[in-house]
Amino acid sequence: APLFPLAGRTVTISAGGTREPLDPVRFLGNRSSGKQGVALAEAARDAGATVRLVAAHMEVPAPAGVDVVSVETALQLRDAMLSAAAGSDVVIMAAAVADFRPADVSGTKIKKRDGHADPVVSLVRNPDILHELVTVRDAGGTSQLVVGFAAETGDAHGDVLEYAAEKLKRKGCDLLVVNHVGSDKVFGQDHNSVVILSRAGSEPQSASGTKHDVAAVVIDRIGAELSRVFP
Ligand code: C5P
Repeated sequence: APLFPLAGRTVTISAGGTREPLDPVRFLGNRSSGKQGVALAEAARDAGATVRLVAAHMEVPAPAGVDVVSVETALQLRDAMLSAAAGSDVVIMAAAVADFRPADVSGTKIKKRDGHADPVVSLVRNPDILHELVTVRDAGGTSQLVVGFAAETGDAHGDVLEYAAEKLKRKGCDLLVVNHVGSDKVFGQDHNSVVILSRAGSEPQSASGTKHDVAAVVIDRIGAELSRVFP
């Protein structure tokens, strides 16, 4: 195998969790640490790629040697990803994007006031950025590999891989990296266990170990797909 399988390629990666403001001091957020996305950025860099990292809130620092754009909200992440994706050979959505944001953002701190009703927060949907990236890629007719992540739990109605296969179809991405999420697994942890599904329908590929190990397997797989599809 070549020493730098992604030499000459540009890889755009989103990482971390978006924060959706309620007022100047409060937000709705999620538990993403950014560790998996940062590990991917490092692995892509070490494979020789030019790396663009779109970083939402992260508990770990961005790696050296990558271009970083910091964002807060899903809408900001969408804009940053759409512009970074243009001209990229690979786009990886590893960020935990809030599905909803508060419908109204108060310009001043929301206060508790005696004799007044407690506030009710209504939410509106955020766009599905992964799906949009695929749509833009297809409309442009460019050759670009789009990779999504999915955290799935199995339940009485179906198993994890069935749900993941449906998601892969719905999102239209080329590869979907599936986490099986248990109660205390994945979030903030250093270890991860995933299955990589491909739209082309090749056998599911498993990987587990540290988030660094998983990133190396995902980046290897991306290198293999690229040399097969866009040599
Ligand atoms: O639908 P779900 O959130 O499970 O899909 C996860 C994948 O979709 C991840 O790659 C995530 O980054 C991406 N996503 C997105 N925009 C959203 C929600 C999720 O791009 N609004």
